[in-house]
Amino acid sequence: MEKEVRLREVGPRDGLQNEQAWINTEDKINLINALGETGLPYIEMTSFVHPKWIPALADASEVVKGIKRRPGVTYGALVPNEKGLERALEAGIDEVSVFISASETHNQKNINKTIDETFPVLKNVIDVAKKEGKTVRGYVSTVFGCPYEGEINQSLLVRTVEQLMEMGVDELSLGDTIGVATPNRVKDVLSLLDFVPIDQIALHFHDTKGMAVANVVAGLEKGVIAFDGSVGGLGGCPYAPGAAGNVATEDLLYLFQGLGLHTGVDMDALLDCAMFVQGKLHKTLPSHNLQAKMGAGGERL
Ligand code: HMG
Ligand code: MG
Repeated sequence: MEKEVRLREVGPRDGLQNEQAWINTEDKINLINALGETGLPYIEMTSFVHPKWIPALADASEVVKGIKRRPGVTYGALVPNEKGLERALEAGIDEVSVFISASETHNQKNINKTIDETFPVLKNVIDVAKKEGKTVRGYVSTVFGCPYEGEINQSLLVRTVEQLMEMGVDELSLGDTIGVATPNRVKDVLSLLDFVPIDQIALHFHDTKGMAVANVVAGLEKGVIAFDGSVGGLGGCPYAPGAAGNVATEDLLYLFQGLGLHTGVDMDALLDCAMFVQGKLHKTLPSHNLQAKMGAGGERL
């Protein structure tokens, strides 16, 4: 049997949150529906954050209510607080993604709270989500560096992760929000956080410095089996200036196929999704596999 890895598609959320261009609700729904047909097990559809903070995802409820669910796919959304949870539950999500930063300044800029003020909010969101029968994913952002503070205080990182694990998150996604990690740093951080069961960890790399694929290999070598990717290499955090998109899901898939790791995801179907979103955004996306396909006979923009 081939060893299995889990791909977590975050493009409709992390990708589209950062776009200035308004993508129609129907196009977002069509993208999510098409992603659901590729074999991806998890799709983060949108965010129930404040629409003034992230205008591009102001139609979160309409998107969630409009999609066609494919059995076996977990449909998640980002939720910052109780108000967001209320909206997400009303729309109908399978999984709630909460988020907090490992650095004080990014947390403040991103959600207008200190780290200590954020813990009780997340605890309440997680408690209610669990009572409603939802699974929970917990993101820690700025794990490898902060756009405002630079270096991350390692004891604050450990404390933040400990708190999320105690709150009962099912999966912990470690975010390289600004894309500064390198493979040895990835291994060091995984060693620092070795109190978290390895099969509950996901790695979330933005590809600002081109290290994301190398970092994923480092994660694999440490035993991680879940990785976040964004179709087309979309993505970025509006509260992390200069950050590039997530590593493209299709670039991760190419890596995993080459390593003989099973994902259940169809490359052609995934590339069609990347091509669709590139067409809607009217710009060349960073995905290597998408651009290789375009260069090999696809239509260049
Ligand atoms: P705030 O202004 O401090 O909110 O924003 P508040 O609690 O003071 O409430 C103010 C008003 O907003 C109230 O309304 C609330 O009801 C309303 P009023 O009484 O004045 O009429 N409100 C909401 N409305 C709709 N949905 C909500 C909501 N919450 C309050 N959820 C808040 C705090 C958290 C809402 C805001 O800071 C926010 O939305 N931030 C989101 C920023 C964001 O989305 N960043 C990007 C995602 S994180 C990321 O990309 C990193 C990641 O990918 C991992 C990585 O890369 O590392 C996950
Ligand atoms: Mg991100």
